[in-house]
Amino acid sequence: MTVTQYLADWRPYPFEIAETRLEFDLAPRATRVRSQIDFRRKGAGDLVLDGAGLKTLSLAIDGKPLDPAGATGGRLVIPAADLPDAFTFAAEVEIDPEANTALEGLYLSGGMFCTQCEAEGFRHITWYPDRPDVMAPFRVTIRSDKPVLLSNGNPVSQGAGQAVWHDPWPKPAYLFALVAGDLVAVPDSFTTMSGRQVALNVWVRPGDQDRAGYAMESLIRSMKWDEEAYGREYDLDVFNIVAVDDFNMGAMENKGLNIFNSKLVLASAETATDGDYERIEGVIGHEYFHNWTGNRITCRDWFQLCLKEGLTVFRDQQFTSDMRSAAVKRIHDVQTLRARQFREDAGPLAHPPRPDHYQEINNFYTATVYEKGAEVIGMLKRLVGDQGYRRALDLYFDRHDGQACTIEDWIKVFQDATGRDLAQFKRWYTDAGTPRLTLSEDWRDGTLTLDFRQETAPTPGQPDKPPRVIPIALGLIGPNGDEVLPTTVLEMTEARQSFRFGDLGARPVVSLLRGFSAPVTVSREIAADEQALLLAHDTDPYARWQAGHDLALDALIARSTGAEGGAEFSRAIGGLLDDAEADPAFAALCLSLPGEEEIATTIAARGEIPDPDAIHAAREALARDIASAHEPALARLYEAMTTPGPYRPDAEGAGRRSLRLACLGLLSRIDGAARAEALFAAASNMTERQGALEWLIAAGRDAEALAAFAREFAGNRLVMDKWFMVQPLRAAPGLAVARARDLAARPDFDWKNPNRFRALIGGLGANHAAFHAADGSGYDFAVDWLMRLDPVNPQTTARMCSAFETWTRYDATRQAHARAALGQLAAMPGLSRNTSEMVTRILA
Ligand code: PHE
Ligand code: ZN
Repeated sequence: MTVTQYLADWRPYPFEIAETRLEFDLAPRATRVRSQIDFRRKGAGDLVLDGAGLKTLSLAIDGKPLDPAGATGGRLVIPAADLPDAFTFAAEVEIDPEANTALEGLYLSGGMFCTQCEAEGFRHITWYPDRPDVMAPFRVTIRSDKPVLLSNGNPVSQGAGQAVWHDPWPKPAYLFALVAGDLVAVPDSFTTMSGRQVALNVWVRPGDQDRAGYAMESLIRSMKWDEEAYGREYDLDVFNIVAVDDFNMGAMENKGLNIFNSKLVLASAETATDGDYERIEGVIGHEYFHNWTGNRITCRDWFQLCLKEGLTVFRDQQFTSDMRSAAVKRIHDVQTLRARQFREDAGPLAHPPRPDHYQEINNFYTATVYEKGAEVIGMLKRLVGDQGYRRALDLYFDRHDGQACTIEDWIKVFQDATGRDLAQFKRWYTDAGTPRLTLSEDWRDGTLTLDFRQETAPTPGQPDKPPRVIPIALGLIGPNGDEVLPTTVLEMTEARQSFRFGDLGARPVVSLLRGFSAPVTVSREIAADEQALLLAHDTDPYARWQAGHDLALDALIARSTGAEGGAEFSRAIGGLLDDAEADPAFAALCLSLPGEEEIATTIAARGEIPDPDAIHAAREALARDIASAHEPALARLYEAMTTPGPYRPDAEGAGRRSLRLACLGLLSRIDGAARAEALFAAASNMTERQGALEWLIAAGRDAEALAAFAREFAGNRLVMDKWFMVQPLRAAPGLAVARARDLAARPDFDWKNPNRFRALIGGLGANHAAFHAADGSGYDFAVDWLMRLDPVNPQTTARMCSAFETWTRYDATRQAHARAALGQLAAMPGLSRNTSEMVTRILA
């Protein structure tokens, strides 16, 4: 039976909680949890508590026992008539952390107890109003023989076998956390803007300390940045971060006790890439920033998830831009948004940033809620200006501190702080789908008229799409490359709208959607030489990159359908390579051809059927042509872009390495991967090591390198995850599925570990032509493994179903294979609610 939850059904909880007291006696198979919750009546209604998989030993109200037999199913309802206005509810339950392979609630990871309570994990720990609008201070006692015992808030006492923690800041249950294990701390401290000392710790397994330093540095930078950029100060005496190996997601912002997937904490030059370092810094920041945007101000209900996630992603993006290169960060973010969110928005899983119904909330931790949620805030900021944004955020923190809020509250803050009417803007939150912006130009007597149209295709459950407010940032570039109009923001509010620019000497080229000012797709007539002009002269780095990218995309699409293409792109690359050394990271971005998935998405958006094999062949051929045409320059840059001295994970070094690897990738197509082989042997950092390995795999010259890599890193789970990921990802499409099958048969394919599972199955899923193999073998392989994982870990299984969200784009043969594979999954007896919802939506 499927139960759909609706936003419209939300009702206030009739009680508030003065304090929640928890006592844990930890044991792997039988943990006892005693709870005492001090309730006070606030409105009319029964006491409704959530619980899942609990063995209930006793229940009482104000010390008077209740029959625990009533506590079955997922709810415990105590009639209003049986309750005084203020009372203490007490329960004792038993749970089994060792059997908890779903990794929600209290579970074991490598012998360590840890918790994951967002979104609805706390009900697996004890009876509770497990909803984000019920907030309480917590007092937690942990008894265990593990040496390190942690929970939220400040430590009250630590003795042999027992620790007591108190969190004075009222919080919902999803922010509860507990950790007990053999851990060691990398300690430091931070003095806040008002002079308070905060003890900081990054907790890892013994032996991992030397890889936790970067996480600590990132935390300190985050704390400082939030004070400077948002005036937000930390509010407890301690801040703990714990790295765990088994985790469904990236990390979790539990109050004062962030829990991280170890891959987002542990890094050294030898084991982590530049990309890993950047992600660690970004996610450490993200979780820290949640302390204000998520914890102090939380969500009223889970439909409002983007209230905390969109805003916190936006904040972590700003943080990374400030720490590194703003231009590179923006381009990366656009790439991710297109690759993940546009794809989601164009398929059967499309939903608005604020959905209004769901079956399983865990299925809504999506690119739409997170990344599009952040884009929407970027648009708001552009519309109200930097000062308006600052005033609105100050008001938000002032007005809503300690509350559980909605998107309406958020929008009202902007209206009140800036006087702007945002009724139409709100559609970005409630409507799904990516608008398509079409530009046609008219040039007459020194006047350029820009005629814009916006259209959004129907999405599931939303047939009609009224026009949205679209901030269009643009500039004009004269034929000689001079900017004749600096960035101007047009506000489009109608389905069709014209804007006029007069007094122009010669017809300029429009530099459109500067900074990617709105999450829309663009359709316009633009000649290849105009794109080349923008790539050479645009003042906006995003728009420059986009011009080159579009040039490449057009060439690739032409070639994949048997036409010619790429001459203009190749010429433009020649110009770019001449001064690539001035900004290596930017040059690297321009040299990396659009991925096969993006090519397919673009072809599908133009109403045609993408052919994965033809796309792969076209991309390889263009890469070879570029390499042959520019071999001397590429080889020279490859040699020049070394980073002498000890490895430093900063933006500058990362930029040089990214250019070096971009050159290596192109050259590997024509040098038989000779350079890759040499680099693999010589590299002293994982960035170059993994980069070289990937090109060796693509060239089919990988046997020795893979063996050496496995010998060297057999004991390091995170590095071995890379080994499992790059093989199916980079293998030639015709070989990748067989390769994935062989890897899955290895004893060290520890598939119950989400990182390992994602590495292999996700690695194949990201090899576009292999996953969408015409014989259906990619689909079958994925579904076999999804069926195996579902009974063990529904949440990770369901998330990975999104590999299938594009299945209807492809030809009838592929569709038939995908439908059959998905049908098998859908029909599996005992399929989880998580996966069932995903498959049903995907097949709808
Ligand atoms: N709230 C976490 C974050 O984005 C994500 C998360 C969701 C982690 C659910 C675990 C479970 O920061
Ligand atoms: Zn988050």
